[in-house]
Amino acid sequence: MDNVAHTLENLHHESRSFRPHAAFAAHANATSYEYKKAGVDRLQYWREAALRLAWRTPFTEILDWSDAPVSRWFHDGTLNACDNAVDRHVREGRGDRVAFHFVGEPGDTETLTYRDIHERVQKAANGLLSLGVGTGDRVAIYLPQIPEAVVAMLACARIGAIHSVVFGGFSAESLRQRIDDAEAKLVITADGGNRRGQHLALKPLVDEALASHGEGTAHPEPCASVEHVLVVRRTGQETAWTEGRDVWWHDAVDPQPAEHEPVWVEAEHPLFILYTSGTTGTPKGLWHSTGGYLTGAAHTHRIVFDLKEDDVYWCTADVGWITGHSYIVYGPMINGATQVLYEGTPNTPHEGRWWEIVEQFKVTILYTAPTAIRTFMKWGEAIPNQFDLSSLRLLGSVGEPINPEAWMWYRRVIGGDRCPIVDTWWQTETGAIMISPLPGVTSTKPGSAMTPTPGISVEVVDDAGRPVANGEGGYLVITEPWPSMLRGIWGNRHRYVSTYWNHFDGMYFAGDGAKKDVDGDLWLLGRVDDVMNVSGHRLTTTEIEHSLVAHPWVAEAAVVGASDEVTGQAVVAFVIVRGDAHGVPEDGEEVAAALREHVRRQIGSLAKPRTILVVSEVPKTRSGKIMRRLLRDVAEDRPTGDVTTLADPTVMDAIRTGLEAGAGD
Ligand code: WTA
Repeated sequence: MDNVAHTLENLHHESRSFRPHAAFAAHANATSYEYKKAGVDRLQYWREAALRLAWRTPFTEILDWSDAPVSRWFHDGTLNACDNAVDRHVREGRGDRVAFHFVGEPGDTETLTYRDIHERVQKAANGLLSLGVGTGDRVAIYLPQIPEAVVAMLACARIGAIHSVVFGGFSAESLRQRIDDAEAKLVITADGGNRRGQHLALKPLVDEALASHGEGTAHPEPCASVEHVLVVRRTGQETAWTEGRDVWWHDAVDPQPAEHEPVWVEAEHPLFILYTSGTTGTPKGLWHSTGGYLTGAAHTHRIVFDLKEDDVYWCTADVGWITGHSYIVYGPMINGATQVLYEGTPNTPHEGRWWEIVEQFKVTILYTAPTAIRTFMKWGEAIPNQFDLSSLRLLGSVGEPINPEAWMWYRRVIGGDRCPIVDTWWQTETGAIMISPLPGVTSTKPGSAMTPTPGISVEVVDDAGRPVANGEGGYLVITEPWPSMLRGIWGNRHRYVSTYWNHFDGMYFAGDGAKKDVDGDLWLLGRVDDVMNVSGHRLTTTEIEHSLVAHPWVAEAAVVGASDEVTGQAVVAFVIVRGDAHGVPEDGEEVAAALREHVRRQIGSLAKPRTILVVSEVPKTRSGKIMRRLLRDVAEDRPTGDVTTLADPTVMDAIRTGLEAGAGD
């Protein structure tokens, strides 16, 4: 709670509040009746939400909580996720609607209707079958942000295979861990993607991931589960080829018949696994169901984003994260949205790229992350001001707490003071938005996610699990099961229970601190554990520490998240170099540069420490636990906090003196 207490002290009193515009409220999908209905009968509320999906066989039971904390929702019904996201629109006469305006980073564009996607997913489903993938098999997807990523996910869902999308920024090692844990049978990848004007190779990383890494490494054997690698040609770059294992998408998928009957699965059939950082070193394979997950994603997308017939919706997340799963692929497609899908970075080839896209496609709803907003603030408002952003009518934020200043800038510069902002709090675990204003209904306050969405019950509690009073802070918990809740950690029920359900009796603990203001509205205060949030991406300190100590120069490493103006938090590592290792450079900066590259290779660029400080000691408690709180003080350049529980109280002075003498980068 150190973190929370600290943030609480710093949280200035925010008194600004924005009431919904009457014109927006008059046409909003959500009404205050929604809260009333859910309040009277939560399960009935969710039943109605689920009935908006297309069911092959109807369900009779809403919730089965007898195996708590594993829930089953709508379990005796059957359906198919791809049928809901694609076939249904074609069947009901909406086949000509544009599903995606795809924009490649180099400027290539493609318009895909629901009918086009329908054709492609059926071919892809047949392609997967021809490669021996069947219902229940796991498929790893490691692709750039291109239409094939969406098609690949939906094709898996169509045949009842379970996709595990691995963000393209992850390293070969991270990919291997995830493939092994899920025992994936197939990897779908591309030759490469376009990133900052370059061709970023992906296929070589898959080759590296699947290979033996040699005696004495974590992977002495080649990957045992993968039978084929299906490769999309995106950049056209040279690609090494393993005959018999590797197949081109254009050979295995394109010639297939565009006819495939979806596999009807039970509501609890796993739809996907998505790996996320845990407080221990190994990533957790969180898995989601079909019926409950889709209900949560589609329902929240409809009421929080107020989607209408003529909207053009753009969620800037990557499909490799949960936001891409729930708010690019499943939620919006089930609702028949017309979307923008953009492959590249916001500043390629210029810093106005996003606003140019908003202008060109007349985007009406934009959903992005605070780190992006702060980056645009840094680049200056003159850039967005050059473009016509008047099509926008609703703005969303996700991934980390949004600071009031960024919120106000987003509202004024991007939203022209007319668009409501929905600050949406949720997690990979929750599957769908849990806390958010409803546009047209809820008044908003800059920096607050406001209240739980209808049908969701959250509380802020103290150490003993008792609700705190308004005006106080504590731990954010969810007190009732909800349809899109994770069903577990792949292959590890025990870890699921101990990670989420052991802190407070009968309550899901989300890992975040929160405050209730005097009106009872919620302010998210960031993580209370050792998970950092860098540019909206969750990283564990342990994961990076493990990587650092795997380097022969490093004896010990302690990693903390320090606040950063742009990325929210940044990775700061304190390392002790080994006295006995040969060839350790004298120069701290040289050490830092080598170690940063090492982490990039092992985990991926997101995990690369912003700062590495070479120190002689790290502060520890008598029981040997690293006191990250004190290191955070150093990293954020604050006076050192309470040191009474330190085993050696002089160590903090030693660290500070050492750093002042110039041992860091
Ligand atoms: C943080 C992303 C404050 C939070 C959807 C959570 C937020 C973690 C918000 C989940 C928000 C997400 N305000 N914090 N609006 N949205 N977070 O699993 O710490 O990648 O626990 O899911 O991001 O990250 P994840």
